[in-house]
Amino acid sequence: MGSFCASRNGNGQALFSCNMNEYMGRMYATSCATFSEDRPKDNSVSDMLVDSFGRLHTYLRISLTERCNLRCQYCMPAEGVELTPNPKLLTKTEIMRLANLFVNSGVNKIRLTGGEPTVRKDIEDICWGLSNMKGLKTLAMTTNGITLARKLPKLKECGLTSLNISLDTLVPAKFEFMTRRKGHQKVMDSINAAVDLGYNPVKVNCVVMRGFNDDEICDFVELTRGKPINVRFIEFMPFDGNVWNVKKLVPYSEMLDTAVKRFTSLKRLQDHPTDTAKNFTIDGHQGTVSFITSMTEHFCAGCNRLRLLADGNFKVCLFGPSEVSLRDPLRQGVEDHELQEIIGAAVKRKKASHAGMFDIAKTANRPMIHIGG
Ligand code: GTP
Ligand code: 5AD
Ligand code: SF4
Repeated sequence: MGSFCASRNGNGQALFSCNMNEYMGRMYATSCATFSEDRPKDNSVSDMLVDSFGRLHTYLRISLTERCNLRCQYCMPAEGVELTPNPKLLTKTEIMRLANLFVNSGVNKIRLTGGEPTVRKDIEDICWGLSNMKGLKTLAMTTNGITLARKLPKLKECGLTSLNISLDTLVPAKFEFMTRRKGHQKVMDSINAAVDLGYNPVKVNCVVMRGFNDDEICDFVELTRGKPINVRFIEFMPFDGNVWNVKKLVPYSEMLDTAVKRFTSLKRLQDHPTDTAKNFTIDGHQGTVSFITSMTEHFCAGCNRLRLLADGNFKVCLFGPSEVSLRDPLRQGVEDHELQEIIGAAVKRKKASHAGMFDIAKTANRPMIHIGG
């Protein structure tokens, strides 16, 4: 790596830059591992999951609902979003059929998202059904933590192995402003409950927005001193209806600068090629911190993620507008091999990377609440 690092847009123009020299002494080289370590030796991964760039997709994110008990500004417009009528949403049986097909084809990690996945009444049954699928190694959930503390012991019994909890501010009044609801203490209670139940690390997702919470970066890092949590600072991304603006984006380089000024022992860990996050340790801290740099340093080359939305649409890229319905053929009674053909064809159409942040901001996509991240 050179001494000067710049993020570029699709035209090769530098967007943000930072002098990396001062960090290099503390950093390990970025991972040079390849996908081959993910590829099972027994050829049990179906060609359905391999795209035209050779990326193997073993991680499926399933959005269980479009509903949420918060109204976060970065996720949905103030007026809310149009909800798909209930009969058009996937039932538990349909989710199981599709998930089983993916797992039998080689998917080994499923993340449940929403909306807010815990508002779904059959969440425990769904966890139980998924966690018993042979070949699934990780059953994870991304949640806003509002009702989690109460539900977590049962969810753990039902096989939930990993937890990512969203929390963007440590100030209750700011929480209420951002989420248009109360509930800061409930989220803190959920993070503590997850730690107490042995989830390690509990990942805390913090979307950083200029003028809102960029002054709290060091307070969040401080939180990792006494808790085995992984705080992940996320660059603000554009989605339909979230009034994205480049001025609100705090680039990775700037977030890192802020953190390293106070926490001078910040040291880069070796990433896995499929990681969304760049991970760091700090001397004397139980927890770790990470940065998710979707906008200024995308990680599409290592992408292993596919998405099944609550209405049964299948999406191969978070920022790609193209979707194909799996619900409709499923309800028409097609066989598994026909579903596999539809999925495989969509995976083969996946682009090498997203279009760059300014083009993403101009392209019609769904609001985040429909996609689930
Ligand atoms: P782990 O499985 O624990 O690594 O979590 P994750 O980062 O895959 O998922 P999570 O739901 O915690 O998402 C954290 C942030 O990463 C959110 O802002 C997501 O939108 C973003 N993210 C997750 N997957 C992708 C992806 O495939 N591409 C991009 N660009 N961002 C993603
Ligand atoms: N930009 C970045 N991250 C976002 N998330 C929701 N909306 C955005 C956005 N506009 C995060 C949530 C959640 C995860 C699924 O995605 O905070 O943790
Ligand atoms: Fe994968 Fe698309 Fe995310 Fe890039 S933007 S990492 S290709 S889902």
